[in-house]
Amino acid sequence: MPRALVLPAAVTGAGIALRAFCDDDVETVCEASRDPLIPDLTTVPRDADRRGALAYIARQHRRLRSGTGYSFAIADAADRAIGQIGLWPVRDDPGRASVGYWVVESARGNGHASAALRALSEWAWTLPSIERLELFVEPWNTGSWKAAEAAGFQREGLLRSWRVIRSERRDLLVYSRIRESGEPNVGSAHRPGA
Ligand SMILES: CC(C)(COP(=O)(O)OP(=O)(O)OC[C@H]1O[C@@H](n2cnc3c(N)ncnc32)[C@H](O)[C@@H]1OP(=O)(O)O)[C@@H](O)C(=O)NCCC(=O)NCCS
Repeated sequence: MPRALVLPAAVTGAGIALRAFCDDDVETVCEASRDPLIPDLTTVPRDADRRGALAYIARQHRRLRSGTGYSFAIADAADRAIGQIGLWPVRDDPGRASVGYWVVESARGNGHASAALRALSEWAWTLPSIERLELFVEPWNTGSWKAAEAAGFQREGLLRSWRVIRSERRDLLVYSRIRESGEPNVGSAHRPGA
């Protein structure tokens, strides 16, 4: 049984903070649920009502308790949730973790996804086991791969027919960031078993 994980109190970046979801974030989840893409890529239910949005928020907390991974709300300078970003250790290889994210339409184009990705990556190096972060993007999703590049991720190639999205197998670009020598791998907000 995987051990429970602990979310740090807050991870800060340029104009954003990563923090735990709370029930006050329900409107943000409802907005995300009306996005044409986010429900196809994530577990945000399509056209969620308040109850559906609260269930999504509860699931983010469960991911931590079950040891599945770290799901943060991305909050703006006024502490309004504007998106989500998650770090998901790969089950059979604790040295690798994948990253996924979304930002609601009303908050896009302000550099928030890039800032959240950079903050998450830098925090990830405080987790002693993580050596490689990876993310997967459809080639047409310029905003997503540009955010990844702005946060120091490098394009590795195109994985053909990699994953089913919207009922079809899709090609996905794979991006990664590797722990650099000199980046911390000790001291941490990660307290397995806490
Ligand atoms: C992809 C997404 C997270 C980008 O969020 P964002 O906060 O607007 O991103 P940023 O403001 O950090 O922009 C990052 C870069 O992409 C560019 N960009 C953003 N949206 C763009 C778009 N629709 N088309 C082209 N470029 C775009 C920005 O200009 C910026 O480029 P720069 O670094 O050269 O200045 C957001 O559009 C989203 O949530 N989309 C739906 C879900 C999704 O695709 N998630 C990622 C799955 S892999």
